[in-house]
Amino acid sequence: MRLASKDVLGLQDMSTTDMQLILDTAESLKEIISRPIKKVPTLRGKTVLTLFYEPSTRTRTSFELAGKYMSADTVNIATTTSSVVKGETLRDTAKTVEVMGMDMVIMRHPISGSCHYLAKILDASVINAGDGMHEHPTQGLLDMFTIRQRKGRLKGLRVAIVGDIYHSRVARSNIWGLTKMGAEVVVAGPSTLIPPYIEELGVKAYTRVEEAIEGADVVNVLRLQLERQQKGLFPSTREYARIFGVNQERLALAKVDYLLMHPGPMNRGVEIASDVADGEHSTITEQVTNGVAIRMAILYLLLGGATDETAD
Ligand code: CP
Repeated sequence: MRLASKDVLGLQDMSTTDMQLILDTAESLKEIISRPIKKVPTLRGKTVLTLFYEPSTRTRTSFELAGKYMSADTVNIATTTSSVVKGETLRDTAKTVEVMGMDMVIMRHPISGSCHYLAKILDASVINAGDGMHEHPTQGLLDMFTIRQRKGRLKGLRVAIVGDIYHSRVARSNIWGLTKMGAEVVVAGPSTLIPPYIEELGVKAYTRVEEAIEGADVVNVLRLQLERQQKGLFPSTREYARIFGVNQERLALAKVDYLLMHPGPMNRGVEIASDVADGEHSTITEQVTNGVAIRMAILYLLLGGATDETAD
């Protein structure tokens, strides 16, 4: 089984068949993570590069672990210690590593569309690990995977995405993925942090968090991206926490068995209260584990997949 494309660039253009295939494959690969010996030979001889132009803990590490668990050789370029600081272009960096024999390049870059550009100029597979304010498809898939594992379905669920929608590539990937899979998606946040076109994506937008959370099966809280803010989009983080912060009181409006999600890293006490982040409804640590399973599935479907060698 293979994906339709050699690349995973976003969920806007991914078919439901491919999304379903990735989720199902992750389901069967997840148990490898809890084995005492976390190693299967599936991707032996394959070489995977992580090329990150922005900081990351979860995404970069989970891709690297996913590769290692499946016996691929993984290489990391930290742009701060590479020839990027000497002015090397993205094209030259990518072509340089490709001729060394890379089968896959996993990239995070501050410019929207950069991964699409890379996919056009390389024969190797390209995975978008976050491009500017555009998409973060593997985060969208791991969020859908977490919901599906806990709730048994995606179709018909009400998912509230709360916070800084404007700067969020996580929000866009979740919206495209979840709406295609039949979920009802609503978003909420300050009007300055909600793009004017958002309802064209098939979601309902609110400026009162309470309206979005009411009756929700899932509340996905987004990080306030302080590093991307322009001045004046909200008065202060204290004010933001008071009006838009997700806390116990607001979550009482959700369904009794709601899931609380956050892609991380969190600003505790700003967009999310610390007690709910660590509370019984939280899936935040589970999302991180599921991130490894989703990334193993994508590596398997793009680089392996022709034969079933997942079992020892
Ligand atoms: N959720 C996420 O992308 O986290 P990192 O920035 O740590 O990779």
